[in-house]
Amino acid sequence: MNKKTLRAGIVGSGFAAKFHFDALSRVHGTVVETAGVFSPIEKNRVAFAEERGLRAFDGLETLIEASDVVHVCSPPVTHESVAISALKRDKWVIVEKPFTGYFGDGSGKFNGDDFPRQQALDGAAESIRRILEAERSSKGGILYAENWVYAPAIQKEREVLEKTGGQILWMHGEESHSGSHSPDYGKWRLSGGGSLVGKACHPLTAALYLKHVEGKARDGRPIRPATVSARTHAITRMPDFRDAGHIRANYTDTEDFAMIHVVFEDGTIADIVASELVLGGVHNWLEVNANNHRTICNISPNTSMQTYNPVESQFDDVYVVEKIGTKQGWAPTSPDEDWFTGYQHEMEAFYRNAAYGTPIQSDSRLAADCIAAIYAGYLSAEKNGAEVEVPNLSD
Ligand SMILES: NC(=O)c1ccc[n+]([C@@H]2O[C@H](COP(=O)([O-])OP(=O)(O)OC[C@H]3O[C@@H](n4cnc5c(N)ncnc54)[C@H](O)[C@@H]3O)[C@@H](O)[C@H]2O)c1
Repeated sequence: MNKKTLRAGIVGSGFAAKFHFDALSRVHGTVVETAGVFSPIEKNRVAFAEERGLRAFDGLETLIEASDVVHVCSPPVTHESVAISALKRDKWVIVEKPFTGYFGDGSGKFNGDDFPRQQALDGAAESIRRILEAERSSKGGILYAENWVYAPAIQKEREVLEKTGGQILWMHGEESHSGSHSPDYGKWRLSGGGSLVGKACHPLTAALYLKHVEGKARDGRPIRPATVSARTHAITRMPDFRDAGHIRANYTDTEDFAMIHVVFEDGTIADIVASELVLGGVHNWLEVNANNHRTICNISPNTSMQTYNPVESQFDDVYVVEKIGTKQGWAPTSPDEDWFTGYQHEMEAFYRNAAYGTPIQSDSRLAADCIAAIYAGYLSAEKNGAEVEVPNLSD
């Protein structure tokens, strides 16, 4: 078979841009030529480009024009505008999580602590509708980069559900660590919120995905989230928080803990916790309790490998696992973290979809459900956990 060649354009030159670029080298179904990178600060985009032998573009539009697939690896507040620009030019667009959100009135003074959450739900819903409308009018499409959907453990659970016809009764899961490295995270006007949108989105989308899978396998239609109840807290911003220096504690106007309870259309449930308060590396897992089986997906850490290192400095040049605080003693070292997190699998699927139309698992419909549930969650948290309906924005 003659492999199709597709040109990749990367928007952003930070953490996500790096792992997107790395994942491209593991795409086998198509030939990927990286057109280049754009990010607003010249020094950063040039450094990113030079290190990888790429072209640094000084404008977003010229990068989009030179690409077939545009990777949105910039802060959440930029996702809508970059995605719509790419779709208008009939490009494929890989949108990092969160798909979109509500970022305030656009002013630098916007404060996430004191605005009505109904405004956030309405604003996020409008943003979703604009992106979906742009997708409908485009020859390109949205490839939603929720890597948890493509994590091998979640895909194995998909197989179990499809082959056994199981009904998921209750899921619970978590994404937590000691704080995002991104300087833009923690400012509502750039990140659209805190732990609920930035972290809970991962296990939440995996849970929503598995109920979509279950519904499609049995009845030909996805089972959607109907209502949510949520709580959020800003623990590191409390006057009585005692900073021992191990967790990030400089969020300006976002929460650092969130829990969300989802009730699906069929009455079954999921509980997701997310926080910036957990030491010892990322804590990413989802447990599925079904009527005919039980599955625990340990995305990270997992027991694939463990190392014991008696002297910290011996491992100075050894990558162990994401956000581990120390490399001394026992560690849940990951032999191939990107494989467990699904980064290479999502990229392979997205390029096959763009090239040959092979169906994807993580699409704009799933992304829309996730953002609708999250911002319904913010409204619920404002009401101390009252049940709030999740709007259906994609039908
Ligand atoms: N799937 C995952 O596991 C995962 C992990 C980390 C981040 N992310 C997501 O990736 C996105 C980027 O996060 P990050 O951690 O790389 O942040 P980062 O701060 O490390 O990098 C952001 C980059 O975007 C650039 N940028 C800022 N404004 C821009 C604009 N208007 N146009 C183009 N580029 C712009 C910045 O200069 C920087 O290069 C976020 O949406 C984040 O949620 C996903």
